[in-house]
Amino acid sequence: MKTMKTRLLTCFDRDGIRSLYEGLSERSRALRFGAAMPRLSERTVRELADLDGRVRAAVGVFVRGSLVAEGRWARLHRDSTTAEGAFTVADAYQRRGLGRHLVDAVVEHARTAGIETMQFTVSGENRGMAALLARRGIRLRYSGGSGEASYPLAAPTPDGPMPPERAAWKKSA
Ligand SMILES: CC(C)(COP(=O)(O)OP(=O)(O)OC[C@H]1O[C@@H](n2cnc3c(N)ncnc32)[C@H](O)[C@@H]1OP(=O)(O)O)[C@@H](O)C(=O)NCCC(=O)NCCS
Repeated sequence: MKTMKTRLLTCFDRDGIRSLYEGLSERSRALRFGAAMPRLSERTVRELADLDGRVRAAVGVFVRGSLVAEGRWARLHRDSTTAEGAFTVADAYQRRGLGRHLVDAVVEHARTAGIETMQFTVSGENRGMAALLARRGIRLRYSGGSGEASYPLAAPTPDGPMPPERAAWKKSA
């Protein structure tokens, strides 16, 4: 997409985050949170915009100034080197490659922030997210209605070869 801009989100993006999540269909919102969420509370918006870049960070995609997709990582606890990843693409922009673009961007950013393992928890009905992860070689293990995966990240290598997960992604793209 020619008009697309990708950048890290900050707490000043709270309004954009609210619009993105409020504009989601009920189904997309339920898939994102793993449970029905007909209304988005201000508390949830505040939590989504609480981004310090060290414990949690998010990458956003903007089209003509509007936030249309975001992907994020959050450490399991303050000093954990394991982080949970999550992705949200506005309904009108789904199946246009933004999820794939964000998985790359989030994994890259998490790795440079010192994250060693990414975890994904996906509702059992979320075929889209499962397929997106599978394209990157990340297989979910299902139990009790949801799927989980742990994905080790290679350490940053300024002069080294392309990190393995990036190479794997290229092969399957
Ligand atoms: C899941 C989600 C993030 C995928 O983002 P996206 O931008 O639509 O995905 P992409 O266009 O990058 O898709 C990449 C590949 O993933 C797979 N995929 C994505 N959505 C799919 C779907 N609904 N059904 C089957 N495969 C799908 C396909 O292999 C696709 O490649 P293709 O279009 O060339 O076939 C997006 O649909 C979304 O935000 N859904 C609602 C919220 C959610 O479920 N978040 C994830 C919870 S962690």
